[in-house]
Amino acid sequence: MSKLISGFSKLTKEEKINWLAENYFNNQEETIKIIKKYWHSNAKLQQLHDDFIENTITNFYLPYGIAPNFVINNKEYVIPMVIEESSVVASASKVAKFWSTRGGFKTKVISTTKTGQIHFIYKGNFSDLEDYFNSKKDDFKTATSSITKNMEKRGGGILNIELVDKTLSLENYYQINVTFDTKDSMGANFINSCLEAIANSFRKDDIDIIMSILSNYIPQCLVRAEVSCKIEDLGGEDPYKFAKKFEQAVKIAEIEPYRAVTHNKGIMNGIDAVVLATGNDFRAIEAGVHAYASKNGKYTSLSHCEVVDDNFKFWIELPLAVGTVGGLTKLHPMAKLSLELLQQPSAKELMEIMATAGLAQNFGALSALTTKGIQYGHMKMHLNNILNQLNATDEEKEVISKYFENKTVTHSAVLNKFNELRK
Ligand code: MEV
Repeated sequence: MSKLISGFSKLTKEEKINWLAENYFNNQEETIKIIKKYWHSNAKLQQLHDDFIENTITNFYLPYGIAPNFVINNKEYVIPMVIEESSVVASASKVAKFWSTRGGFKTKVISTTKTGQIHFIYKGNFSDLEDYFNSKKDDFKTATSSITKNMEKRGGGILNIELVDKTLSLENYYQINVTFDTKDSMGANFINSCLEAIANSFRKDDIDIIMSILSNYIPQCLVRAEVSCKIEDLGGEDPYKFAKKFEQAVKIAEIEPYRAVTHNKGIMNGIDAVVLATGNDFRAIEAGVHAYASKNGKYTSLSHCEVVDDNFKFWIELPLAVGTVGGLTKLHPMAKLSLELLQQPSAKELMEIMATAGLAQNFGALSALTTKGIQYGHMKMHLNNILNQLNATDEEKEVISKYFENKTVTHSAVLNKFNELRK
């Protein structure tokens, strides 16, 4: 029997849960219990979360960790990270401390321009279109003035509006390309509202507006983060060997897409965790970053390394469209708290913090990969997850953790030890 339903959104939360349990779960009572277990005990706070999206039935928790000891442009930070993967926060903390005694992270926002486009079809003569576009420029200003007023007060707004002929790629296809500075907001609503207002004032019979929307490709909203030191200051048994191997690992990611994707995934472990903790849009960030990584037609590393003479330099350059006002940033109590923890950064500072978290994560991953291998540290952190899955008691956890202190953790080795203990 079909389980398609109409009017689902009109049901109460209880009704939605009951319908779900009845139709999709074997143990209805248990299902309802689990769903409700994750409701917040504070009804007002729960309502706030319910209202973020539609058809909310419960919450999905992710851990909120913190990585202390970051020094960015000589300022100290504790970075909040929301992520489910073990080792990420530990690695960020370790790398932060390591670089804090080697000059810290140096960052710089290169540009902050964002783009939006009005895509349209026009079958007439191009010069007539150009004349019409030029005749409309004042109308564009008037149409957007009520939207841009506040943004302009903050020093942002529309930077440029241009007509683009795309007919070589697609028949009769043109764009109005609009660039923006959205200051401390991510600016999605602002950009889309401006675009729709411009599109409305551009309409005429022979122009067929297809859509108006911001672009999440933001190669002109760039930030750079860097660490550098004398090779001997890298420490360890053989810092020169470490530096060379590290550089080689980055060069591999620069030319080999299979490696580059994983390399950049590690970078995004750090960035997404801060994006989430600060209530920013991780899908937009991901889309923009990966498009940027393939801007030259081939997917490549976002980070780079140079080992020249006695010097080690490691840096990242990537686009990040983030906000410290608007959206969830002030609405979600934990996002608000994260921004306070980060000392109320501007959007530019937040770009720098995120780029730092990404570079730190990449440094941690490559250091591990080129020395002991990633599983050594990772599985040690994962040990606890395995033990939780096995419902190990606190005593069992203690015994097993001690046992694996100087052994390689694998799922089957943990299982064997666990079974042995329970025998
Ligand atoms: C795992 O989440 C991330 C790494 O695979 C990144 C990398 O390989 O560089 C460890």
